Amino acid sequence: MTTPSGSSTPSASSSASSSASSSSSASRSAAAPPWDVARPPRADGRVFLVTGGNAGIGYFVVEQLAASGAEVVLGSRDPARLQAAMASVRGRVPGARVRAVRMDLADPLSLPAAVAELRTERLDAVVLNAGIALDHPPRRESADGNELMFATNHLGHFALTAHLMPLLAAAPAARVVTMGSIAARSERLDAADPQSAHDYRPKRAYGRSKLAQMSFALELDRRLRAAGSPVSSLIAHPGGALDSLTPSRPLVHTRSAGARLLGLPAGAVLQGKDAGAWPAVRAVLDPAARGGEIWGPRVLGLRGRPRSEPVWPLLTEHTDAAWLWELSAALTGVTPV
Ligand SMILES: NC(=O)c1ccc[n+]([C@@H]2O[C@H](COP(=O)([O-])OP(=O)(O)OC[C@H]3O[C@@H](n4cnc5c(N)ncnc54)[C@H](OP(=O)(O)O)[C@@H]3O)[C@@H](O)[C@H]2O)c1
Repeated sequence: MTTPSGSSTPSASSSASSSASSSSSASRSAAAPPWDVARPPRADGRVFLVTGGNAGIGYFVVEQLAASGAEVVLGSRDPARLQAAMASVRGRVPGARVRAVRMDLADPLSLPAAVAELRTERLDAVVLNAGIALDHPPRRESADGNELMFATNHLGHFALTAHLMPLLAAAPAARVVTMGSIAARSERLDAADPQSAHDYRPKRAYGRSKLAQMSFALELDRRLRAAGSPVSSLIAHPGGALDSLTPSRPLVHTRSAGARLLGLPAGAVLQGKDAGAWPAVRAVLDPAARGGEIWGPRVLGLRGRPRSEPVWPLLTEHTDAAWLWELSAALTGVTPV
């Protein structure tokens, strides 16, 4: 439920752990067939939203979800790129049901209108995929004065989730799937300087923004459980996904023969964005997936077929979850639960 920030529920970060548990993988039916990335289960009649669905990993999440029979809505900034992505999906997936809404995650004021434009009575899943990674100083800010990666990757998705919650709660068992990153593993959040105002280092600020997203995803699941909500929150991460290893989709992305050759050595440890989409698609579609889980690539967390992995130790500590939630609610003026 979207509520004014002052009326958020007490932090659930110190309460019992989220619905993910080591027993959830163990309880996965031994009889369930192995997950086939080329043939995920059907999802006819369901509605999914993918932020950043016009490019990169998000594009392939859309393409693969559309092949399940679901209606997939792409959320992103640029109308021409959205149109090109939809044309590409329609050209590859017979009968694909795709449409687009414009949203700029760095502009919180664009989000209520984007949600209204969804024109659906319920939403079965949202994949919080859109993101930016800035390589060079200087530190940049969004129009409302937040560090740009923290604003786009974390605050935008925090606010979007709040605005979407009535639609998610109207579905029987909706999922919020947050796109994390192994870049978060080596970073720590800083309560004294959450937006890297001092000693700005782009790579660290990116890692922190992804860690903030992942911390939010698990705190969201704890709060949803505490509130008795049917909605669950999971994390997916793509491992390492390079454009040079990604098959061409001429309207969206073209890989030259040279780029393909140059990318070959990296293919031993990393993968394309088509494969980078697999964990998120499984987190949306696998009936056995549970709130609070992390889904990533099988081989060293970098490449390969999707599987659930143990929740990373830095995320089980929950030390940052409560202050981050309160800060995010204060900065966005909304709270998802
Ligand atoms: N590639 C990797 O190896 C890797 C590894 C770990 C995690 N990830 C995560 O995976 C996600 C996708 O990465 P990618 O490599 O596919 O990136 P990408 O190719 O650069 O695509 C990013 C997408 O996000 C959209 N976007 C950016 N800023 C936005 C904004 N303000 N509002 C709405 N949409 C916005 C972009 O739309 P425009 O077309 O408008 O720019 C684009 O669709 C990100 O969350 C990233 O952190 C990637």
